[in-house]
Amino acid sequence: MILGVNVDHVATVRQARGGSDPDPLTGAALAMIGGADGITIHLREDRRHIQDRDLKLMRRLVPVELNLEMAAIKEMIGIALKVKPDLVTLVPEKRAELTTEGGLNLKKKKTQIKKAVKAIQDKGIPVSLFINPAITDVNASKEIGASMVEIHTGRYSDTRGRRQALELTKVKKAIKMALDIGLLVNAGHGLNYSNVKKIAAIKGLRGLYIGHSIVSRAVFIGMEKAVKEMKRLIKAGKR
Ligand code: PXP
Repeated sequence: MILGVNVDHVATVRQARGGSDPDPLTGAALAMIGGADGITIHLREDRRHIQDRDLKLMRRLVPVELNLEMAAIKEMIGIALKVKPDLVTLVPEKRAELTTEGGLNLKKKKTQIKKAVKAIQDKGIPVSLFINPAITDVNASKEIGASMVEIHTGRYSDTRGRRQALELTKVKKAIKMALDIGLLVNAGHGLNYSNVKKIAAIKGLRGLYIGHSIVSRAVFIGMEKAVKEMKRLIKAGKR
């Protein structure tokens, strides 16, 4: 199972002062030394953390999977086709949100997302759709023609006890369904050092995409160690 490390929040700290430190590129390099199998960055329309310069440099310097998270809008599609990341993950984007709050609305945005998936996949770049753990969204992803999905684990991460157990069941069902209909399946959002094992234990998952908890721990113990520790937990969960 691969671990894609999202380094957006290294850039968040940089943008707090508008200078050049800390550089998400250095964050990516240290994450790779720690064992990251991929690097994820979200180029948001408002450029609140990752900048176009970061994406360009990462494309040149990151040898592992470079996953570009983006909204399915014309500007971003143009950038993706030019920069050619290894994977594009389409996410919904609202200007006022603190982070990606839910999965894509495939019912309302079907035509727009389908067009984006086709434009990007036609150029040989696989597209993953970030979706809520719902069977309807899994089926809609297949219909839309995406080769991959990322199941949103935010609800699972934000709940406890019985409610968390229910959310875990939803995540498991969505993953099973997606695998059954031939999609590649990832999971992510809100995963941390205490809740990752149960998700890592789910059979058939291709990868996990984790950002905030790793960057938070990296502030205190360093990126390399923070990634190593997460990799160890993922491995332990799989046993
Ligand atoms: N996957 C997707 C699609 C995301 O949008 C994000 C947040 O940028 C993540 C995973 C990582 O979430 P977190 O930072 O909570 O680990």
